[in-house]
Amino acid sequence: MMAPETSSDLLQVSHFSVDLYTARAALRPVDGVSYSVAPGETLAIVGESGSGKTVLNFAPLGLMPTGVVTDLSGSVLFDGQQLVGLPEPALRRIRGGKIGTIFQDPMSALNPALRIGRQIAEVAELHLGMTHAQAEARALDLLKLVRMSDPQARLRQYPHELSGGLRQRAMIAIAIAAEPRLLIADEPTTALDVTVQAQIIGLLKDLQRRLNTAIVLITHDMGVVASIAARVAVMYAGRLAEYGPVEQVLLTPRHPYTRGLIAALPSVDDAPGSPFRGLPGTPPVLGAPLPGCAFAPRCPQVIDICARQYPPLRGSGGPGPGAAVACHVVNARPSKEQAHA
Ligand SMILES: Nc1ncnc2c1ncn2[C@@H]1O[C@H](COP(=O)(O)OP(=O)(O)OP(=O)(O)O)[C@@H](O)[C@H]1O
Ligand SMILES: [Mg+2]
Repeated sequence: MMAPETSSDLLQVSHFSVDLYTARAALRPVDGVSYSVAPGETLAIVGESGSGKTVLNFAPLGLMPTGVVTDLSGSVLFDGQQLVGLPEPALRRIRGGKIGTIFQDPMSALNPALRIGRQIAEVAELHLGMTHAQAEARALDLLKLVRMSDPQARLRQYPHELSGGLRQRAMIAIAIAAEPRLLIADEPTTALDVTVQAQIIGLLKDLQRRLNTAIVLITHDMGVVASIAARVAVMYAGRLAEYGPVEQVLLTPRHPYTRGLIAALPSVDDAPGSPFRGLPGTPPVLGAPLPGCAFAPRCPQVIDICARQYPPLRGSGGPGPGAAVACHVVNARPSKEQAHA
């Protein structure tokens, strides 16, 4: 059973699904997902490309590409407010306000025609009701907070004048300008080189400590997960395969998909340049939801029931023993505690 979410959670996602319609297709990229994030906590969301990580996080905020119609069901409670069904003007007040967003590609999020300082100041004016002068002063403070070199000069620069790493810092400054309670970061470091990646992750950790902002971090990088997150949710084909404390999921993964993902990671023992091992097989094409487990066709431990019935996520996923796992084989096995009872 899913443990009841506690009212102290900042974000409570329950049985949340997204149906997505384009001119050519109808699919369900998110299907019955539940998790929660406490104030100041970091949750990482991992999973192969196309597993639904971006749709899961941005559809409730009304941030979907044009030409795509989405139909949301279930519940996304943020700070006591239901986001599912909330009209666009109310969502707009939350975006950039209580929820800050950071994307992989800062150029797509920054306004190319506005100076960096102005873009930060606008958020402070809009969401915090600051005067022009107050907001300009805040922009400078924020550039210092995200450790921009020469912040005074950067205020007057345009996005194209900055390097990738500095643009990412500018986007982080915009994202935190209104002192959000939650930051959603979608692959914020993928486009950067390794040294800059480490700096940006260090910066997010530092900001979180100072501001007590909760972070949902979408990433492909298990090293990043281990370094920043307390809990991790592993997505497969629009559902959670495994969800729980980072040490447990990374060191003792239980779902066959998580085990495969972690076994596929390049090891420190591998010769430099050795090929990425990868997970055998390919993810399913998302159409109508499958009756059984979507991982069954690739699963080394598959049994009869897997193709017929979807395995519910069992366990709390919260602190305490055992990550929550959606797998018939794993859940049929007695847990260690039961075995010793
Ligand atoms: N604009 C779109 N048009 C059509 N289908 C879409 C669109 N955006 C997402 N989808 C569908 O939703 C599914 C989930 O997409 P999503 O972008 O959430 O995956 P993801 O896990 O974020 O992948 P990645 O790691 O590549 O960013 C995709 O498999 C795709 O089929
Ligand atoms: Mg994505």
